[in-house]
Amino acid sequence: MTDALIHIKGLTKSYSSKAVGKVLAVQNVDLELNKGDFIALKGPSGCGKTTLLLAAGALLSPDAGEVLIKGRNPYKLSQPERSAFRAENLGFVFQSFHLVPYLTVMENVMLCELAGSGKDIKTCVTELLEKFGLTKRLKHLPSELSVGEQQRVALARAICSGASIILADEPTGNLDTENGKRVLEYLADFAKNGGAVLMVTHDHNAGDYAFRHVDMVDGKIIQQ
Ligand SMILES: Nc1ncnc2c1ncn2[C@@H]1O[C@H](COP(=O)(O)OP(=O)(O)OP(=O)(O)O)[C@@H](O)[C@H]1O
Ligand SMILES: [Mg+2]
Repeated sequence: MTDALIHIKGLTKSYSSKAVGKVLAVQNVDLELNKGDFIALKGPSGCGKTTLLLAAGALLSPDAGEVLIKGRNPYKLSQPERSAFRAENLGFVFQSFHLVPYLTVMENVMLCELAGSGKDIKTCVTELLEKFGLTKRLKHLPSELSVGEQQRVALARAICSGASIILADEPTGNLDTENGKRVLEYLADFAKNGGAVLMVTHDHNAGDYAFRHVDMVDGKIIQQ
């Protein structure tokens, strides 16, 4: 038993596709995400980063191995229990942002409150959207935003959700250097203040902010 926030042991995941048959996406990966960690997960396109992140985030059941989040295996929970467990513990920034198309910027970020965190998050949301330069966009719908703006809305939602773990897939991928650095600073602060961040990234600036680097090739971790 460890006190890691996320403990991954021997995780293996493959996909089967009609065209090419079985694709082994992640092979026997061990990884721990601890309180205060800010991990940059790097590697070439297709090496399994998103698969690992989804499995770590209780969104994709592994074929073999185990994922423990705060000591619990989410894949042993029923679907509704697992959703509630995710909402309580994990904030996500996906490669495609999963904003709700018919809700405004403000409503999207406030969603975590509706999901029942029970906290008054309005101050957090207002402050963060201002820092991310989105104050003039509060009433816009996602379709009325640039891709980089959508990315920052998704990140604000994850940070304000009250979750102690953020899983982010290329959160600076569509941002200019300045905004990218701001986002990395925020993730570093989040980790320093007792949270934990697992971030997939190709951003060369990430090196200056993440506390630990993990490299993946062909579904395996080659360096920690
Ligand atoms: N739903 C799926 N069905 C079949 N194969 C898939 C599926 N999703 C991913 N794969 C394959 O699994 C491998 C790992 O994919 P994954 O999305 O984890 O890579 P990645 O490292 O995140 O890549 P990128 O940097 O391009 O986002 C790839 O070879 C991909 O083609
Ligand atoms: Mg990916």
